[in-house]
Amino acid sequence: MLLGVVLTVLCLPFLWWYFFLQKFKSLSAIPGPRPLPLIGNALDVGDTPTALFNNCAKLLDQYGDIFKVFIANECKVFIANADFLEEIMTSNVHITKSNGYYLLKPFLNFGLLTSSGSKWKRRRKLITPTFHFKILDQFLDIFNASSDILVKKLFNEVGKESTDVCPYIHLFSLDVICETAMGVKISSQEGKNSEYVNSLIHYFDIFIVRFFSAWRRFDFLFKFAPEYPIQEKYLETLQKFSTSVIKKRRLEKSQEVVETTSDLGIKRRVALLDLLLESDDLTNDDIKEEINTFMFEGHDTTASGVTFALLALAENPEVQQKVYDEVLAVVGDETYVSMQHLQDTKYLEMVIKEVQRKYGAVPFVERQLEMDATIRGVHFPRGTTLNLYLYGVHHNEKYFPEPEKFDPDRFLPHRQSERHNYAFVPFSAGPRNCVGQKFAMLAMKVIIIKILKTFKIIQVPDHKPQLGMAAVLKSYNGVRIRLIRRDTD
Ligand code: HEM
Repeated sequence: MLLGVVLTVLCLPFLWWYFFLQKFKSLSAIPGPRPLPLIGNALDVGDTPTALFNNCAKLLDQYGDIFKVFIANECKVFIANADFLEEIMTSNVHITKSNGYYLLKPFLNFGLLTSSGSKWKRRRKLITPTFHFKILDQFLDIFNASSDILVKKLFNEVGKESTDVCPYIHLFSLDVICETAMGVKISSQEGKNSEYVNSLIHYFDIFIVRFFSAWRRFDFLFKFAPEYPIQEKYLETLQKFSTSVIKKRRLEKSQEVVETTSDLGIKRRVALLDLLLESDDLTNDDIKEEINTFMFEGHDTTASGVTFALLALAENPEVQQKVYDEVLAVVGDETYVSMQHLQDTKYLEMVIKEVQRKYGAVPFVERQLEMDATIRGVHFPRGTTLNLYLYGVHHNEKYFPEPEKFDPDRFLPHRQSERHNYAFVPFSAGPRNCVGQKFAMLAMKVIIIKILKTFKIIQVPDHKPQLGMAAVLKSYNGVRIRLIRRDTD
């Protein structure tokens, strides 16, 4: 009797596994590595950002632009095929995010990035106009001022054999997003507000640990992890900060001082927060979800875009020279980068696009099917995770021959128009695309112009970035370049 019970208990996980695989039988035509019982393809995919990056690239090579893996209790289909991406991204139905996003809940709760259904629709309608051209135009002051501080900081690195620019760019983008989103100057580049800054940076380190851990992913088990109390401390700092900014700003608004003057008596810019405060539908907690979402989505992505742009310019001196010539012709001696300058720097725009193709800041996004769906003739059961493998489609030879070659001319208008519209989707596309896309492009352009006006960027021999992917693409051994002052060159 006891033996029977023991055997049944031992068999249960295997029975679960059998039925789990059966559920996804309709996907048998989609290739992928053979899953092991219970652990599925965990070993094929890897348990660190660099392993995930390298293994997914290998699987793409081996199985083509659609392949599947089984990880924990999920069947994930990786999609690097533009026809499939088009059908999924344009859908108004398949907009629910996957389980992985749930790990952001302690910080973001359910803001624009993580919510779905009618809540997402309402918020999206409300938030899209906050990124209006007129609002972005007045953010240029912040992009310029923060860039000037960064350039000043980089002077300290001139003459060194090599510099890892990641920490510099990271603080720059934090300063930018804090001031534009919340209207608060945190001056992280000048070493201020270090508790908030550290909490933000290290909260995401813990997010990555959870993302790759089989057991820390579960809220109940995570409470026993050594990282749990540390995460709680960071969260307390982060939530306190945004709560107090929102409360203060609401109070100021009720006293009608926000639009007119700042503490220094200077006319104050409107922050994204002010626009959210205009809405009668949003409580302070609702606004906190969105402001924290901007902080999350807006800083690491922009920082990744700028650091890889600097790397690409260092590795491709002829491209750098062409951008510099354009900057000289368009911006000349002017120290303020204006909207007109940004509109006229067409080659730089192509370079940034090629950076986003080769080193896209967001390597993948995920959706979970809430109902059975037939997509381009394939029957996907409810519960399938669709991994929209943006890095994969951007490196798919079908759309981008010689994908490792850095070639901004791929974005010449006639070449773009010959390509599938969904082959280049760094900001995703369709109803769930990036609301901050224009913001990010403008911020990246300003800082690259300012850096190039001041420094020549030189490649560091033998530095090969170790790419890794989780929420954003990063180099885990830094991004090293050498800086030379142009005025003494
Ligand atoms: C290079 C910079 C950036 C890249 C490559 C990027 C990319 C993306 C991508 C791929 C998505 C879709 C995410 C998904 O489906 O899970 C997204 C969504 C989003 N992004 Fe960005 N982003 C960038 C910068 C920004 C900035 C600066 C902000 C805000 C200031 C921002 C705010 C958002 C928000 C709120 C969403 C969620 C939109 C929704 O689901 O309706 N992003 N971004």
